[in-house]
Amino acid sequence: MRHFLTLMDLSQNELHWVIQRAIELKHMRRRGEVYEPLKNRVLGMIFEKSSTRTRVSFEAGMAQLGGSAIFLSPRDTQLGRGEPIEDSARVLSSMVDVVMIRTFDHEHVERFAEFSSVPVINALTDDFHPCQLLADMQTFIEHRGSIQGKTVAWIGDGNNMCQSYINAAKQFDFQLRIATPAGFEPNAELVAQHSDRVTVLTDPREAVLGAHLIATDVWASMGQEDEQEQRQRRFQAYQVNEALLDLASPDVLFMHCLPAHRGEEVSHTLLDDPRSVVWDEAENRLHAQKALLEFLLGQEEE
Ligand code: CP
Ligand code: NVA
Repeated sequence: MRHFLTLMDLSQNELHWVIQRAIELKHMRRRGEVYEPLKNRVLGMIFEKSSTRTRVSFEAGMAQLGGSAIFLSPRDTQLGRGEPIEDSARVLSSMVDVVMIRTFDHEHVERFAEFSSVPVINALTDDFHPCQLLADMQTFIEHRGSIQGKTVAWIGDGNNMCQSYINAAKQFDFQLRIATPAGFEPNAELVAQHSDRVTVLTDPREAVLGAHLIATDVWASMGQEDEQEQRQRRFQAYQVNEALLDLASPDVLFMHCLPAHRGEEVSHTLLDDPRSVVWDEAENRLHAQKALLEFLLGQEEE
């Protein structure tokens, strides 16, 4: 039985399999082919934070694969009333075939996985967002081919998305330049582990020079709403706009996991720039997670 808590839980070959499969599943859906390998399978979805893309892509994905999904919110389950994670994991995993969790503390998904008898997927914690990286890698590969040996620039907060890009640099073998204001760097230990592929800078212009992919995210993540104003001041010089993209490689792509705040981390018009692939990136959450579900539930049968 396998879990997907970070990108490091799958081997490089397995990640490539998932991405190629995602591309195939996308073509099959475009052709209108019905493909239902997960008939009668059920996904439990625990959301302790808001979501549009993650919820809809997992729920639609399970339906398209012939299965179904149950949305579980702490507001109306015992999860929000202090039932221990270990107990919830044992009970839920005795009833469903796979569990997806979006929460704050990364350690909570690790503990849930430890006591779960079915695969557990991290659908975003304060530390990592690996499902988004599957979609981002799929999107790059569809537009430009292999990302191996390319240069990627991460601009802004050293948050869960940034830290997943660090794991991706290792697993997909690219160079990652991160530009953050002092005090907002990603976890130092994680950076040190991948120092052969990751450089942390403060100047966004230096980070994007010659880059093949530029990615950013909101300045205040879910749970940091109180810091919004202070962060807005600190991140002022980190807006990704057309002029910044002009310093990168002529074939640069721009990605953002969304939701975006136009006028803050991105200029008002950037999402509609021809170099932006954010809508493909969002759609690919569906295809990439269908491939991931097929992979994790296929492993179970072996
Ligand atoms: N990118 C992403 O995970 O979006 P949601 O918060 O809408 O799920
Ligand atoms: N870093 C953002 C990503 C949202 C998909 C957050 O955690 O809120």
